[in-house]
Amino acid sequence: MCGIIGRVGTDQAIDTLLTGLENLEYRGYDSAGVAVQNGSGIKVQKRSGKVDDLKRTIDSDDLHGEVGIGHTRWSTHGPPTDENAHPHTDSTQDVAVVHNGIIENYAELKADLVAAGHEFTSDTDTEVIPHLIQSYFDEGASAEAAFRQAIDDLDGSYAVAAMVADDHVIYAARQGSPLVVGLDEEGYFLASDVPAFLEYTDSVVYLEDGDVIVVRPDGIEFTDLEGNDIEREAETVNWDPEQAGKGEYDHFMLKEIYEQGTSLSQAIEGRIDHEAGDVALESFPPGTFEGIERVQFVACGTSYHAALYGSIAMNCAGVQTSAHLANEYGVSAPPVDEDTLVIAVTQSGETADTLSAMRQAAADGARLLTVTNVVGSTAARLADDTLLIRAGPEIGVAATKTFSSQAVMLLLLAQRVTGDVVGEQRANLEALLEDVSALPETIESVLEDDDSRDLAETYLDSQSFFFIGRGLGFPVALEGALKFKEITYEHAEGFASGELKHGPLALVTPETPVFAIFTGEEDEKVLNNAEEAQTRGAPVIAVCPEGHRALNVADAHLEIPDVDPDLAGLLANVQLQLVSYHAANALGRPIDKPRNLAKSVTVE
Ligand code: F6R
Repeated sequence: MCGIIGRVGTDQAIDTLLTGLENLEYRGYDSAGVAVQNGSGIKVQKRSGKVDDLKRTIDSDDLHGEVGIGHTRWSTHGPPTDENAHPHTDSTQDVAVVHNGIIENYAELKADLVAAGHEFTSDTDTEVIPHLIQSYFDEGASAEAAFRQAIDDLDGSYAVAAMVADDHVIYAARQGSPLVVGLDEEGYFLASDVPAFLEYTDSVVYLEDGDVIVVRPDGIEFTDLEGNDIEREAETVNWDPEQAGKGEYDHFMLKEIYEQGTSLSQAIEGRIDHEAGDVALESFPPGTFEGIERVQFVACGTSYHAALYGSIAMNCAGVQTSAHLANEYGVSAPPVDEDTLVIAVTQSGETADTLSAMRQAAADGARLLTVTNVVGSTAARLADDTLLIRAGPEIGVAATKTFSSQAVMLLLLAQRVTGDVVGEQRANLEALLEDVSALPETIESVLEDDDSRDLAETYLDSQSFFFIGRGLGFPVALEGALKFKEITYEHAEGFASGELKHGPLALVTPETPVFAIFTGEEDEKVLNNAEEAQTRGAPVIAVCPEGHRALNVADAHLEIPDVDPDLAGLLANVQLQLVSYHAANALGRPIDKPRNLAKSVTVE
């Protein structure tokens, strides 16, 4: 989704804005632009293309000034053209606005403004905002009052930042789209997400829906929509700015794949009590989930696959669970009540579909828990409880390290929920917890022996790529296929292995390699299904430990260490992430920014 940045300080805003836009580019990368108060009004430069394209054409002399805003776009209304790039201005260029979200009533607002003589130059919903501000300004309202009135007219979701010529102030508001403030000694930052300004400051204030702020060089006012003062506390984020950089790696995705040992260590630190042979989740002591009768998971994309992983793990332990695509929850959710625990899994904590499912579940009386990576995110604020996955910033659009941390956190949470709901722990819990503690090192061993590049290149010319698994191998098959398709642009599908024979087998040919995931549970059946594909000519790549019986059949092998079946899928997933990465790299794809996608999808 789009990224917005703002700077009010004593230094040159343009440098900070461009750095911020580069850091936010994972949120959208089809156009970019900046606007700076340069002493003689507002100067705007914007264009279609990436932030790099904008940087090449920037005239810094023109953009001299200490107050500015910027935007990197993921199109919703109107194609990625220079005209549709943000910032948007009114006809006189006295007002400049950047926006993330969707203005649902923009068509009516635009019609009224056009009837009143305003001329529009873009197809965007955003452009109504500067025109509205200008119209209130023309009626004699102060800049702040005009901004508030304009915001009041909007239906939908927005994080908006606006400037009015010769007024060294940024006005900003949040409703449904993320917005954070950064504080350093030189002034203030505004951004959609913390990594935008992480190299300048770790002191942040998370805004809430309905907040309106007025940012001046000498101070910031936090108010509600009516203008009443509100309290917002600054927090220190413990993300390391180096973690947000690419380091020695060619791509963020590869770096993040290789960070999984570290991110998992962070995730599990202090959360396992080996002496007691139990999980030690700080906010969830034994008894937390007593009275819960059913658990529903809601999530999208990769987070949905982690949710399915958690759901299957809890279900196998005797808890009544179901996993739902958050975007379908509104039309297909089973009934909930106060005995229902709804677990929203979301890396960003800002996915609109997931937030909407959460709001619906809360309205129906469910208890809400979120598993997220972002402290202070909207999901964390909507939920009754939060379980942080502590994965650190993930910049590559394709989620990697956050998936493994989500799945492991859900596995630990499953033990607590099972204990409280079913009344007894799973067999061999201690052994599982030992394997979880060792998982960071086990993952490192998979990464050290990465030999998936040759395999990825061997099958690169294939027509389609299929991934099959059973039980906890099924969400991994879905995730393997999603990763493969999103970064290689090749056709890939994931199936429950037993489902292959109920239709998809018709697609199987020698041109469709099948990656079969063996977790150690019911492997015989997965092997049968793999052989059914192989009989039809498909090469079978077995993802399994050395010495596994599947190797008597398979055409190729991706090795994983022999661990508890609850964890084997996560190791298989690391191998599949590497295959996708190497295949995409060989095809020359823009791995960190796949076409048409964005990291954080803040529209429904
Ligand atoms: C795929 C991917 C997406 C996200 C999905 C949900 O690699 O990253 O499918 O998983 O958009 O995002 P979050 O987890 O932020 O809710």
